[in-house]
Amino acid sequence: MKTAIHWVAPLAGAILALGALPATAQTIKIGFISSYSGLNGNLGPYMERGARLYLKEHAKELPPGVSVEFLIRDDTGPNPDKAKQLAQELIVRDKVNLLAGVIFTPNAMAMAPLATEAKVPFVIMNAGTSVITARSPYIARLSFTLWQSCYPLGQWAAKKFKRPYTLVSDFGPGHDCEDAFTKATKEAGGDVAGSVRVPLMNPDFVPYMQRVKDAKPDALMVFIPAGKTATAVLKAFGDLGLAKSGVKLIGPGDVTTDEELENMGDAALGVLTVHHYSAAADRPANKAFVAAWKRDYGANETPNFVAVGGWDGMAAIMHAIKAQNGKLDPDKTMDLLKNFKDANSPRGPISVDPATRDIVQNEYLREVRRVGGKLANVEIETVGTAVKDPWKELQKK
Ligand code: PHB
Repeated sequence: MKTAIHWVAPLAGAILALGALPATAQTIKIGFISSYSGLNGNLGPYMERGARLYLKEHAKELPPGVSVEFLIRDDTGPNPDKAKQLAQELIVRDKVNLLAGVIFTPNAMAMAPLATEAKVPFVIMNAGTSVITARSPYIARLSFTLWQSCYPLGQWAAKKFKRPYTLVSDFGPGHDCEDAFTKATKEAGGDVAGSVRVPLMNPDFVPYMQRVKDAKPDALMVFIPAGKTATAVLKAFGDLGLAKSGVKLIGPGDVTTDEELENMGDAALGVLTVHHYSAAADRPANKAFVAAWKRDYGANETPNFVAVGGWDGMAAIMHAIKAQNGKLDPDKTMDLLKNFKDANSPRGPISVDPATRDIVQNEYLREVRRVGGKLANVEIETVGTAVKDPWKELQKK
């Protein structure tokens, strides 16, 4: 009897000592899939840096003993098979708590059924085709939809232009933007002068721009995926002299993506876009974000809307981690993501619509101007306040 007590006591002491530690050190694993190579492979690092910067700036808010680990994977551009394979490995082998990231719509679509099957919450930080969030109840989107920018763009443009032409990349977000812009134009009593879809991969924009020039529209509305593709559009637009022949270039903000403006040069001056984020916005929350970005990544580095998608996506994830004290339950996590709000995102006030799990945000009209010697998307007007995805709103009617 005595010996038994002797044997038990030290063990009980050890258990007590363990209990005094922060409730078992906990690591939240985020399977982060983005594009680091292939088409617009420059965008992945913006998303990752945005997410990491949020985590760094808010690390103190993590519950005691809880840490976050990113498992970074390169989907190599629009490559749904690769994205699906990576997501499968992250879920089955690495047992991630969440999936996050994804620049391209086809990749998000391929991953959606896996999120549902495995009940792994999936936070979208870029991919913008409206239907994506309807593909899994485990998806929440903290980026944007193309309907959110292209529909108010069309409403605004209908007051300024009589014969707009549309040119879009031939895949989900391009089709959404073309549909949204055309619908808004027609609702305002106008019509488009013509529409063309260009291949997603390595398009040569020159013959398309020539066709547009020949049609003599007063505006050209372009959606292409941001990054180097945007610079190729601006170059072809400038080289063929469309601006000089009276064609105004307009579009969602992807076409004047902040990080490429200097590469675009003067051809970008005067381009008018509607979007939810500009690095040049003078909101205090944005000034602080841009300053932290430059402090950590270099004085000449500029964040873009993909970076803000990473930042806000991480803010939503952090909210779910804090509210559950670091022990993530998938359904509880979705409830928290669905009800996430931030009055002070760098892009302005944002929230997630609990009915659709899609972001609600402002849309700003911007013009590319030279500010302090550098090209910038200067916000000139708020054209939409607390805009819900118009595509989903129209489905309800
Ligand atoms: C998308 O595939 O949904 C996508 C990609 C790049 C963008 C916008 C949307 O700039």
